[in-house]
Amino acid sequence: KKLSIIGMPMDLGQMRRGVDMGPSAIRYAGINERLKPLFDEVHDLGDIPIGRPEVVIDKESNLRNLDLVAEKSALLAEKVDEAIETGSFPLVLGGDHSIAIGTLAGVAKHYKNLGVIWYDAHGDLNTAETSPSGNIHGMPLAVSIGLGHRSLTDIAGFSPKVNPENVVIIGARSLDEGERILIKEKGIKVYTMHEIDRLGMTKVMEETIDYLKEKTDGVHLSLDLDGLDPHDAPGVGTPVMGGISYRESHLAMEMLQEAQIITSAEFVEVNPILDEKNKTAICAVGLMGSLFGEKLL
Ligand code: ARG
Ligand code: MN
Ligand code: MN
Ligand code: MN
Repeated sequence: KKLSIIGMPMDLGQMRRGVDMGPSAIRYAGINERLKPLFDEVHDLGDIPIGRPEVVIDKESNLRNLDLVAEKSALLAEKVDEAIETGSFPLVLGGDHSIAIGTLAGVAKHYKNLGVIWYDAHGDLNTAETSPSGNIHGMPLAVSIGLGHRSLTDIAGFSPKVNPENVVIIGARSLDEGERILIKEKGIKVYTMHEIDRLGMTKVMEETIDYLKEKTDGVHLSLDLDGLDPHDAPGVGTPVMGGISYRESHLAMEMLQEAQIITSAEFVEVNPILDEKNKTAICAVGLMGSLFGEKLL
């Protein structure tokens, strides 16, 4: 088993500076040391070069940094694609959640029926028309199911990347009006905090795994650290109170490990400037340990 770690230090999808330091914070929290015992080979491929571009708002669409996000996402897609071609599991470190556009563009061409687990407080299902903010990090799931600006949906030359009926959102507690409509219209499966409280994480994960196992040939885990409660993961740009606990999240990762369904992953929105002594990056690395089979005994 081989793992490829790819850093995507991009903060262009939103307005809080610092999330570009997410990959560094996660490496500093010991990702390489922690995951090495769990794989035959761990290759840290370093970061996709982003530079220090200036913020530009696209005049026609009103999207913040549209051209830059599109350009950098294509670079990430290529790297992710290469990792999979060499038989490696791609693990992408964000960066704001707009990076999922590139990750999924690289992953999707390798599967006929890709599944996605979107672990997040948000739906990230906005388009330029419905977005309250113009921030692309609120749009990657919409883009991946084929909705949004062409220069984002068409990355890697095909669209959609994912069938909305193969998507499960877990942890939702902040959805915009347009997102609610889309969820119903497209048949996206959602476990809000209500269902997590009511059913418990065990049941939520059992159902998610059964649902995806039947109809997909690979499952991407897109884990936004703001899916967790801000007490456990304070270093995020758009925190929402009342989230998934640290313990529940470990349980979720352990159940995914047992089920052996995850074929690619990304951990996003770690912002060390907003964090408390790197707690959020440390939390992310702990969750990766559980996802990849770390055992206490
Ligand atoms: N729904 C809000 C927006 O579209 C917030 C999105 C937050 N997304 C995230 N990946 N943290 O602006
Ligand atoms: Mn290729
Ligand atoms: Mn998100
Ligand atoms: Mn979020």
